Amino acid sequence: MAHRPRNQRPDGPTTVDRLLDARVPPPGATAHTPSPPTSGRRSPILGPPAMTTFAAFGIGLATRSAGTDRVLDTWYPLAVAGGDAGEAVALAATLGHTGGTGTYPLTREVLGRADLAADHPVARAIAAVTADAATTPTPTRTERFPVATFVEDLASDPVGAHDVYLRLHLLSHREICPHDASLEGAFGLLTNVVWTDEGPCDPEVFDAVQIEHAASGRRLRVSSVDKFPRMTDYVVPSGVRIADADRVRLGAHLSPGTTVMHEGFVNFNAGTLGASMVEGRISAGVVIGDGSDIGGSASIMGTLSGGGTEIVRVGERCLIGANAGIGISLGDGCVVEAGLYVTAGTKVTLPDGTVVKARELSGRDDLLFRRDSVTGTVRALEREGGHADWGGLNAALHAND
Ligand SMILES: CC(C)(COP(=O)(O)OP(=O)(O)OC[C@H]1O[C@@H](n2cnc3c(N)ncnc32)[C@H](O)[C@@H]1OP(=O)(O)O)[C@@H](O)C(=O)NCCC(=O)NCCS
Repeated sequence: MAHRPRNQRPDGPTTVDRLLDARVPPPGATAHTPSPPTSGRRSPILGPPAMTTFAAFGIGLATRSAGTDRVLDTWYPLAVAGGDAGEAVALAATLGHTGGTGTYPLTREVLGRADLAADHPVARAIAAVTADAATTPTPTRTERFPVATFVEDLASDPVGAHDVYLRLHLLSHREICPHDASLEGAFGLLTNVVWTDEGPCDPEVFDAVQIEHAASGRRLRVSSVDKFPRMTDYVVPSGVRIADADRVRLGAHLSPGTTVMHEGFVNFNAGTLGASMVEGRISAGVVIGDGSDIGGSASIMGTLSGGGTEIVRVGERCLIGANAGIGISLGDGCVVEAGLYVTAGTKVTLPDGTVVKARELSGRDDLLFRRDSVTGTVRALEREGGHADWGGLNAALHAND
């Protein structure tokens, strides 16, 4: 990121001047049909009362494929959820945002009118994104433009790529927990992107961009081709360790004390609510309680594809053994034996000999699931009495400061 003090004006118009002075909203900057405002102070410019509370607010730097309206990403160095957003209210009034969900380009004209304290986080975030926009156009044939995004109700579905990116940032910044915001339709709102070490690139132009680089003796490194980027290029939450950054998507929610080892994976709208060891895969929508251990290569079924419908939760102090898997939720204090996959339809024998489908045990506390290695029968045993006392997390592995 190339930072330049806001008051320092180089000779002649720069790219950032061009972007900030634009009167027409850049492609991709959208204002969703606002709902009628309920309260608010009167905008000195546009008349209608502006909002005084927001479900979410962000100052971002968006990237679009040069000369198109294909938004490739939006980085929000400031993403906050809930309550009276202070300086955000002043900005909303200046931008004329009166309700609903809206994304607005941050033009120089608007910034001149906004009454923002220079040392306020909102003003600092604006300074960061407008300075970074100065590096446009980029080596990957993209253009950057600063935006402000307001969301009145996170329960309503996202309306565009900027909105989706704000919700993903809120999750990874731990401003909200998984399922606090709708991500319905997110895949359809995002475009596929080639994620390179020089930033996002439109797949349509990637070959040409790579040839341009090769001509100057360089090659772009591609970490993925996907609609979602990895989290750590946008958000690095405190108190976590991530052994392989490619394994955690933006929108993952990792609580302090979480350690994600190389085989671990955390999808968006999923993650941990406390200290956890993650050596297996946490699918979209799955939430893991404090003190639980997802063993090496363990699998937790998701609902995005493959027919699964139950959103799986894992309670506190659970152990899912290496290469084990679950398609049901676990309550607190449960253990699944290494290598045992418990799907919703798995027939499970209880201590009294009753046989039930595993879905009937979903969410129950203090169970040990084990496949009898003599008969092959899957059993659920009460953990009372010291069955499978796995000792809990190793504290030394989760003091991630
Ligand atoms: C399921 C598990 C928790 C059982 O632990 P445990 O109850 O402490 O088991 P133990 O090995 O002490 O065995 C207790 C008894 O159950 C028996 N037993 C254990 N697993 C059995 C099985 N699958 N079938 C039949 N009997 C079994 C043992 O032989 C032993 O019998 P005994 O009392 O007659 O001696 C353990 O085998 C396991 O899978 N741990 C997961 C560890 C892991 O993967 N961690 C993540 C690393 S990345």
